[in-house]
Amino acid sequence: MHGFVVDKMCIAKPFLKWAGGKGQLIHEIVKRLPNELLAGQISTYIEPFIGGGAVFFYIVQQFETINNFYLFDTNEDLVNCYNSIKDNVELVIEALHKLTHKYYESKNSKELYLSIRNKFNETKHNWSVINAAQLIFLNKTCFNGLYRVNKSGYFNVPFGDYKKPTICNAKNLQNVSWVLQKAHIICADFKYSTRFIEEDTFIYFDPPYRPLSKTASFTSYSKDSFSEEDQMRLANFCKIVDKKGAKFLLSNSDPQNEKSSDHFFQDHYGAYGFYIQKVKASRAINCKASGRGQINELLITNYEVNL
Ligand SMILES: C[S@@+](CC[C@H](N)C(=O)[O-])C[C@H]1O[C@@H](n2cnc3c(N)ncnc32)[C@H](O)[C@@H]1O
Repeated sequence: MHGFVVDKMCIAKPFLKWAGGKGQLIHEIVKRLPNELLAGQISTYIEPFIGGGAVFFYIVQQFETINNFYLFDTNEDLVNCYNSIKDNVELVIEALHKLTHKYYESKNSKELYLSIRNKFNETKHNWSVINAAQLIFLNKTCFNGLYRVNKSGYFNVPFGDYKKPTICNAKNLQNVSWVLQKAHIICADFKYSTRFIEEDTFIYFDPPYRPLSKTASFTSYSKDSFSEEDQMRLANFCKIVDKKGAKFLLSNSDPQNEKSSDHFFQDHYGAYGFYIQKVKASRAINCKASGRGQINELLITNYEVNL
Protein backbone atom coordinates (compact mmCIF):
# COMPACT_ATOMS: atom_id res chain seq x y z
CA MET A 1 0.00 0.00 0.00
CA HIS A 2 1.39 3.41 -0.92
CA GLY A 3 2.19 5.41 2.18
CA PHE A 4 1.89 8.88 0.70
CA VAL A 5 -1.85 9.42 0.98
CA VAL A 6 -1.26 11.97 3.73
CA ASP A 7 0.25 14.43 1.33
CA LYS A 8 2.02 17.69 1.21
CA MET A 9 -0.30 20.68 1.07
CA CYS A 10 -1.95 21.21 -2.28
CA ILE A 11 -2.14 24.98 -2.51
CA ALA A 12 -3.56 25.32 -6.02
CA LYS A 13 -7.00 23.77 -6.26
CA PRO A 14 -9.43 23.25 -9.17
CA PHE A 15 -10.97 26.64 -9.96
CA LEU A 16 -14.09 25.35 -11.75
CA LYS A 17 -16.79 22.91 -10.76
CA TRP A 18 -16.88 20.38 -13.59
CA ALA A 19 -19.18 17.47 -14.36
CA GLY A 20 -17.32 14.26 -13.61
CA GLY A 21 -14.87 16.17 -11.38
CA LYS A 22 -12.61 13.76 -9.54
CA GLY A 23 -12.51 15.58 -6.20
CA GLN A 24 -14.28 12.71 -4.43
CA LEU A 25 -12.42 9.87 -6.06
CA ILE A 26 -8.95 11.33 -5.76
CA HIS A 27 -7.98 9.26 -2.73
CA GLU A 28 -8.81 6.05 -4.59
CA ILE A 29 -6.81 7.25 -7.58
CA VAL A 30 -3.84 8.31 -5.46
CA LYS A 31 -3.67 4.84 -3.88
CA ARG A 32 -3.29 3.37 -7.35
CA LEU A 33 -0.59 5.57 -8.86
CA PRO A 34 2.24 3.58 -10.48
CA ASN A 35 5.39 2.76 -8.50
CA GLU A 36 7.49 4.44 -11.18
CA LEU A 37 5.86 7.75 -10.31
CA LEU A 38 6.60 7.29 -6.61
CA ALA A 39 10.17 6.33 -7.43
CA GLY A 40 10.74 9.56 -9.39
CA GLN A 41 11.10 7.73 -12.71
CA ILE A 42 8.27 9.52 -14.52
CA SER A 43 9.26 12.71 -16.33
CA THR A 44 6.07 13.40 -18.33
CA TYR A 45 2.47 13.56 -17.15
CA ILE A 46 -0.40 13.67 -19.65
CA GLU A 47 -4.07 14.24 -18.94
CA PRO A 48 -6.02 14.03 -22.22
CA PHE A 49 -9.42 14.98 -20.70
CA ILE A 50 -8.49 17.73 -18.25
CA GLY A 51 -11.95 19.10 -17.28
CA GLY A 52 -11.62 20.63 -13.79
CA GLY A 53 -8.20 19.00 -13.38
CA ALA A 54 -8.50 17.59 -9.83
CA VAL A 55 -5.92 14.86 -10.47
CA PHE A 56 -3.52 17.18 -12.31
CA PHE A 57 -3.53 19.70 -9.44
CA TYR A 58 -2.69 16.91 -7.03
CA ILE A 59 0.09 15.41 -9.15
CA VAL A 60 1.76 18.68 -10.15
CA GLN A 61 2.15 19.67 -6.51
CA GLN A 62 3.19 16.25 -5.19
CA PHE A 63 5.74 15.08 -7.72
CA GLU A 64 8.48 17.58 -8.37
CA THR A 65 10.46 15.21 -10.57
CA ILE A 66 7.98 15.54 -13.43
CA ASN A 67 9.26 18.07 -15.96
CA ASN A 68 6.54 18.07 -18.61
CA PHE A 69 2.79 18.32 -18.23
CA TYR A 70 0.53 18.07 -21.29
CA LEU A 71 -3.16 18.74 -20.70
CA PHE A 72 -5.82 18.34 -23.39
CA ASP A 73 -9.51 19.01 -23.76
CA THR A 74 -11.79 19.60 -26.75
CA ASN A 75 -13.70 22.33 -24.89
CA GLU A 76 -12.33 25.59 -26.33
CA ASP A 77 -13.83 27.76 -23.58
CA LEU A 78 -12.13 25.64 -20.94
CA VAL A 79 -8.75 25.58 -22.68
CA ASN A 80 -8.90 29.36 -23.21
CA CYS A 81 -9.61 29.74 -19.50
CA TYR A 82 -6.60 27.61 -18.45
CA ASN A 83 -4.30 29.46 -20.85
CA SER A 84 -5.56 32.89 -19.78
CA ILE A 85 -4.92 32.02 -16.13
CA LYS A 86 -1.51 30.67 -17.04
CA ASP A 87 -0.44 33.76 -19.05
CA ASN A 88 -2.53 36.66 -17.72
CA VAL A 89 -3.82 35.80 -14.29
CA GLU A 90 -3.89 39.37 -12.99
CA LEU A 91 -6.06 40.48 -15.92
CA VAL A 92 -8.45 37.56 -15.34
CA ILE A 93 -8.70 38.51 -11.65
CA GLU A 94 -9.31 42.17 -12.51
CA ALA A 95 -12.12 41.24 -14.94
CA LEU A 96 -13.59 38.82 -12.40
CA HIS A 97 -13.52 41.44 -9.62
CA LYS A 98 -15.52 43.77 -11.88
CA LEU A 99 -18.10 41.06 -12.58
CA THR A 100 -18.31 40.16 -8.89
CA HIS A 101 -18.88 43.78 -7.95
CA LYS A 102 -21.67 44.11 -10.53
CA TYR A 103 -23.27 40.90 -9.28
CA TYR A 104 -23.28 41.91 -5.62
CA GLU A 105 -24.49 45.43 -6.40
CA SER A 106 -27.20 44.30 -8.80
CA LYS A 107 -30.86 44.54 -7.82
CA ASN A 108 -31.69 41.78 -10.29
CA SER A 109 -28.89 39.23 -10.27
CA LYS A 110 -30.72 36.88 -12.61
CA GLU A 111 -30.92 39.56 -15.29
CA LEU A 112 -27.24 40.32 -14.81
CA TYR A 113 -26.40 36.60 -15.08
CA LEU A 114 -28.35 36.35 -18.35
CA SER A 115 -26.67 39.43 -19.81
CA ILE A 116 -23.18 38.04 -18.99
CA ARG A 117 -24.22 34.71 -20.49
CA ASN A 118 -25.26 36.54 -23.70
CA LYS A 119 -21.99 38.46 -23.85
CA PHE A 120 -20.04 35.26 -23.31
CA ASN A 121 -21.89 33.56 -26.16
CA GLU A 122 -21.59 36.56 -28.50
CA THR A 123 -17.84 36.95 -28.08
CA LYS A 124 -16.73 33.43 -27.26
CA HIS A 125 -14.65 33.02 -30.40
CA ASN A 126 -12.43 35.92 -29.36
CA TRP A 127 -10.75 33.66 -26.77
CA SER A 128 -9.60 36.33 -24.37
CA VAL A 129 -9.13 36.98 -20.67
CA ILE A 130 -12.63 38.48 -20.67
CA ASN A 131 -14.11 35.18 -21.90
CA ALA A 132 -12.06 33.34 -19.30
CA ALA A 133 -13.40 35.58 -16.50
CA GLN A 134 -16.93 35.21 -17.85
CA LEU A 135 -16.61 31.42 -17.85
CA ILE A 136 -15.51 31.42 -14.19
CA PHE A 137 -18.30 33.86 -13.32
CA LEU A 138 -20.92 31.69 -15.06
CA ASN A 139 -19.56 28.55 -13.42
CA LYS A 140 -19.96 30.09 -9.95
CA THR A 141 -23.40 31.59 -10.53
CA CYS A 142 -25.17 29.12 -12.85
CA PHE A 143 -27.33 26.22 -11.75
CA ASN A 144 -25.19 23.50 -10.14
CA GLY A 145 -21.93 24.72 -11.70
CA LEU A 146 -22.74 22.87 -14.88
CA TYR A 147 -21.22 23.46 -18.29
CA ARG A 148 -23.74 22.69 -20.99
CA VAL A 149 -24.17 24.03 -24.51
CA ASN A 150 -26.91 23.75 -27.10
CA LYS A 151 -26.47 22.37 -30.62
CA SER A 152 -25.01 25.67 -31.83
CA GLY A 153 -22.41 25.59 -29.09
CA TYR A 154 -24.00 28.31 -26.93
CA PHE A 155 -23.78 28.01 -23.16
CA ASN A 156 -27.36 27.59 -21.93
CA VAL A 157 -27.29 26.70 -18.21
CA PRO A 158 -29.97 28.57 -16.20
CA PHE A 159 -29.32 30.95 -13.31
CA GLY A 160 -28.30 29.33 -10.01
CA ASP A 161 -29.80 31.84 -7.56
CA TYR A 162 -27.10 31.48 -4.88
CA LYS A 163 -27.13 34.08 -2.15
CA LYS A 164 -23.44 34.94 -1.83
CA PRO A 165 -21.37 32.76 -4.15
CA THR A 166 -17.58 33.12 -3.99
CA ILE A 167 -16.92 34.22 -7.52
CA CYS A 168 -13.29 35.26 -7.36
CA ASN A 169 -10.76 33.40 -5.23
CA ALA A 170 -7.81 35.52 -6.34
CA LYS A 171 -5.22 33.72 -4.22
CA ASN A 172 -6.18 30.35 -5.66
CA LEU A 173 -6.13 31.69 -9.23
CA GLN A 174 -2.59 33.02 -8.64
CA ASN A 175 -1.52 29.63 -7.27
CA VAL A 176 -3.16 27.90 -10.23
CA SER A 177 -1.29 30.22 -12.60
CA TRP A 178 1.95 29.36 -10.84
CA VAL A 179 1.54 25.58 -11.23
CA LEU A 180 0.29 25.97 -14.82
CA GLN A 181 3.67 27.46 -15.79
CA LYS A 182 4.86 23.86 -16.05
CA ALA A 183 1.98 22.82 -18.31
CA HIS A 184 1.07 22.95 -21.98
CA ILE A 185 -2.71 23.18 -22.32
CA ILE A 186 -3.93 22.16 -25.75
CA CYS A 187 -7.38 22.20 -27.32
CA ALA A 188 -7.49 18.90 -29.18
CA ASP A 189 -8.89 15.40 -29.27
CA PHE A 190 -7.17 12.97 -26.88
CA LYS A 191 -5.40 11.19 -29.76
CA TYR A 192 -3.10 14.21 -30.30
CA SER A 193 -1.41 13.42 -27.00
CA THR A 194 0.29 10.46 -28.71
CA ARG A 195 3.30 12.47 -29.89
CA PHE A 196 4.27 13.29 -26.30
CA ILE A 197 4.09 9.73 -24.97
CA GLU A 198 7.41 8.09 -24.09
CA GLU A 199 8.32 5.17 -21.86
CA ASP A 200 8.68 7.39 -18.79
CA THR A 201 5.19 8.91 -19.20
CA PHE A 202 2.19 8.52 -16.92
CA ILE A 203 -1.26 9.23 -18.38
CA TYR A 204 -4.47 9.71 -16.46
CA PHE A 205 -7.57 9.32 -18.65
CA ASP A 206 -10.90 10.61 -17.38
CA PRO A 207 -13.12 10.51 -20.46
CA PRO A 208 -16.79 11.47 -20.48
CA TYR A 209 -18.57 8.53 -18.93
CA ARG A 210 -20.33 5.83 -20.83
CA PRO A 211 -23.88 6.83 -19.84
CA LEU A 212 -25.41 4.63 -17.13
CA SER A 213 -28.81 4.95 -18.73
CA LYS A 214 -30.28 6.29 -21.94
CA THR A 215 -31.49 9.44 -20.20
CA ALA A 216 -28.28 10.23 -18.31
CA SER A 217 -26.55 13.15 -19.96
CA PHE A 218 -23.09 13.18 -18.44
CA THR A 219 -21.56 13.49 -21.88
CA SER A 220 -22.98 16.90 -22.80
CA TYR A 221 -19.87 18.95 -21.97
CA SER A 222 -19.62 20.25 -25.49
CA LYS A 223 -21.55 20.11 -28.70
CA ASP A 224 -19.51 17.11 -29.78
CA SER A 225 -20.51 14.35 -27.41
CA PHE A 226 -18.39 11.31 -26.67
CA SER A 227 -19.95 8.37 -28.50
CA GLU A 228 -19.62 4.62 -28.07
CA GLU A 229 -17.26 4.76 -31.05
CA ASP A 230 -15.09 7.26 -29.16
CA GLN A 231 -15.02 4.89 -26.17
CA MET A 232 -13.75 2.21 -28.56
CA ARG A 233 -11.18 4.60 -30.03
CA LEU A 234 -9.96 5.28 -26.53
CA ALA A 235 -9.71 1.57 -25.69
CA ASN A 236 -7.55 1.10 -28.80
CA PHE A 237 -5.49 4.17 -27.90
CA CYS A 238 -4.74 2.60 -24.49
CA LYS A 239 -3.26 -0.40 -26.27
CA ILE A 240 -0.89 1.93 -28.15
CA VAL A 241 0.05 3.64 -24.89
CA ASP A 242 0.83 0.25 -23.38
CA LYS A 243 2.97 -0.77 -26.38
CA LYS A 244 4.98 2.42 -25.97
CA GLY A 245 5.85 1.26 -22.45
CA ALA A 246 4.06 4.18 -20.74
CA LYS A 247 1.82 3.72 -17.68
CA PHE A 248 -1.85 4.67 -17.65
CA LEU A 249 -4.77 4.86 -15.25
CA LEU A 250 -8.28 5.34 -16.65
CA SER A 251 -11.52 6.00 -14.80
CA ASN A 252 -15.03 5.41 -16.10
CA SER A 253 -18.49 4.54 -14.86
CA ASP A 254 -19.24 0.87 -14.34
CA PRO A 255 -22.02 -0.06 -16.82
CA GLN A 256 -22.81 -3.06 -14.60
CA ASN A 257 -24.35 -0.65 -12.08
CA GLU A 258 -27.37 -0.84 -14.36
CA LYS A 259 -26.86 -3.76 -16.66
CA SER A 260 -24.92 -6.76 -15.36
CA SER A 261 -24.62 -8.20 -18.86
CA ASP A 262 -22.65 -5.19 -20.17
CA HIS A 263 -19.07 -6.42 -20.57
CA PHE A 264 -17.65 -3.46 -22.51
CA PHE A 265 -14.68 -2.91 -20.20
CA GLN A 266 -13.91 -6.60 -19.71
CA ASP A 267 -13.98 -7.08 -23.48
CA HIS A 268 -11.96 -4.01 -24.45
CA TYR A 269 -9.55 -3.66 -21.52
CA GLY A 270 -9.64 -6.80 -19.32
CA ALA A 271 -9.17 -9.11 -22.33
CA TYR A 272 -5.94 -7.24 -23.21
CA GLY A 273 -4.36 -7.90 -19.83
CA PHE A 274 -5.25 -4.56 -18.23
CA TYR A 275 -6.31 -4.51 -14.57
CA ILE A 276 -9.86 -3.43 -13.67
CA GLN A 277 -10.81 -2.45 -10.13
CA LYS A 278 -14.22 -1.34 -8.86
CA VAL A 279 -14.44 1.50 -6.33
CA LYS A 280 -17.44 3.17 -4.70
CA ALA A 281 -18.32 6.75 -5.62
CA SER A 282 -21.31 8.99 -5.16
CA ARG A 283 -22.64 10.77 -8.19
CA ALA A 284 -22.93 14.49 -7.52
CA ILE A 285 -24.38 15.73 -10.81
CA ASN A 286 -27.50 13.91 -11.85
CA CYS A 287 -30.93 15.20 -12.67
CA LYS A 288 -32.68 12.52 -10.59
CA ALA A 289 -32.24 12.46 -6.82
CA SER A 290 -32.27 8.65 -7.03
CA GLY A 291 -29.09 8.86 -9.11
CA ARG A 292 -27.13 10.44 -6.29
CA GLY A 293 -26.44 7.30 -4.30
CA GLN A 294 -23.28 5.22 -4.18
CA ILE A 295 -22.36 3.45 -7.38
CA ASN A 296 -19.30 1.63 -8.65
CA GLU A 297 -16.72 3.33 -10.77
CA LEU A 298 -13.97 1.55 -12.63
CA LEU A 299 -10.27 2.27 -12.30
CA ILE A 300 -8.31 0.56 -15.07
CA THR A 301 -4.50 0.36 -15.18
CA ASN A 302 -1.87 -1.30 -17.35
CA TYR A 303 0.15 -2.12 -14.21
CA GLU A 304 -0.72 -4.24 -11.23
CA VAL A 305 -1.97 -2.42 -8.15
CA ASN A 306 -1.36 -3.97 -4.73
CA LEU A 307 -3.35 -2.35 -1.95
C1 LIG B 1 -15.06 13.58 -17.12
S1 LIG B 1 -14.57 15.15 -17.74
C2 LIG B 1 -13.02 15.28 -16.97
C3 LIG B 1 -13.19 15.59 -15.51
C4 LIG B 1 -11.87 15.91 -14.82
N1 LIG B 1 -11.08 14.73 -14.60
C5 LIG B 1 -12.13 16.60 -13.47
O1 LIG B 1 -11.62 16.17 -12.43
O2 LIG B 1 -12.84 17.62 -13.48
C6 LIG B 1 -14.24 14.84 -19.41
C7 LIG B 1 -13.65 15.99 -20.24
O3 LIG B 1 -13.32 15.47 -21.53
C8 LIG B 1 -13.50 16.49 -22.52
N2 LIG B 1 -13.64 15.82 -23.82
C9 LIG B 1 -14.76 15.32 -24.44
N3 LIG B 1 -14.42 14.71 -25.60
C10 LIG B 1 -13.06 14.81 -25.73
C11 LIG B 1 -12.14 14.33 -26.68
N4 LIG B 1 -12.52 13.66 -27.78
N5 LIG B 1 -10.81 14.58 -26.49
C12 LIG B 1 -10.39 15.30 -25.38
N6 LIG B 1 -11.26 15.78 -24.44
C13 LIG B 1 -12.56 15.53 -24.60
C14 LIG B 1 -14.76 17.22 -22.03
O4 LIG B 1 -14.78 18.53 -22.56
C15 LIG B 1 -14.57 17.18 -20.49
O5 LIG B 1 -13.96 18.35 -20.02
